[in-house]
Amino acid sequence: MKGVAEAPGKVIVSGEHFVVHGAEAVAAAIERKVRAEATRSDRLLLSAPVRAPLALGPARKVVESLYASMGAEPRVSISVSSTLAPGAGLGSSAAAMVAVAGAASALEGWGLEGMRLAEAGLVGERLVHGNPSGIDTAASAMGGVIAFRRGEPPRALRLGSPLTLLVVYSGARRSTGALIKRVGEERASHPSLFGGLCEGASMVSGLCEGALGDGDARALGLLMTYSHAVLGRVGASTAALDGLVDLCLSLGCLGAKLTGAGGGGSVLAVPPPGRAAAEGVVSKLRRRGYDAFLTRVPAAGARAWRE
Ligand code: PMV
Repeated sequence: MKGVAEAPGKVIVSGEHFVVHGAEAVAAAIERKVRAEATRSDRLLLSAPVRAPLALGPARKVVESLYASMGAEPRVSISVSSTLAPGAGLGSSAAAMVAVAGAASALEGWGLEGMRLAEAGLVGERLVHGNPSGIDTAASAMGGVIAFRRGEPPRALRLGSPLTLLVVYSGARRSTGALIKRVGEERASHPSLFGGLCEGASMVSGLCEGALGDGDARALGLLMTYSHAVLGRVGASTAALDGLVDLCLSLGCLGAKLTGAGGGGSVLAVPPPGRAAAEGVVSKLRRRGYDAFLTRVPAAGARAWRE
């Protein structure tokens, strides 16, 4: 018998970085995911293929802490595989932590789901990033589209209509922890300016919620492009990311921004309406060497089961 879990990656539509400092953000689960399989063992073992995003030390802590909270010994072997590029701003480490917790829970019959899985995974995210807001694990565990504010239960958002989003990986891996630190330094040097931008980010997130609820892709795109400029101001963008946002817009996207920590990683865009037009943009980006893909929103959250 084995416990299996799949946990999706995520994109942040609005409010990354500012969410670490108390602002409201909006995130969506995507169709690429991490899978974990847990079987019984005489001791705790974790394995991942070389390219998998799993930070094995933090994942071990997730499992140890979960078993300790259940009053059990972690006699389990967990293997992890992934269709998410690591360090791409798509929440690969959070998805891995949630998947590991889900697989162990399924094996042991604990039945953890939703925010209980997110909280289990956050133990590892703290070790990976130092000061995570918790949005990545919440989006992965809950799925769909969520509004998230640190310390509060996430709110599942209703969409006016399903949405296709475009994700373009810049090819530059980076460390979320280092980017969180850099933005924290910007906050320390201009605290009042940063405070204003934080309040503005919450307001923009509220407007994104409205655009999503109305199915207004045009408004959502404009809010995202605007957010990109603000993220650049606080040190999260790079010349390459600005160029990629510009390229997406020049190819007809309705809006584009860096997503996640920035400093490299991925750009999230609202493609032009219609499947053929969206696929046309993907082909053009791939011809230029980018790993670009479309993802349907809302996408499923983490699932765990026994086989
Ligand atoms: O790049 P990612 O997937 O690690 O996203 C991090 C999002 C931040 O807002 C920058 C950090 C956080 O914990 O909220």
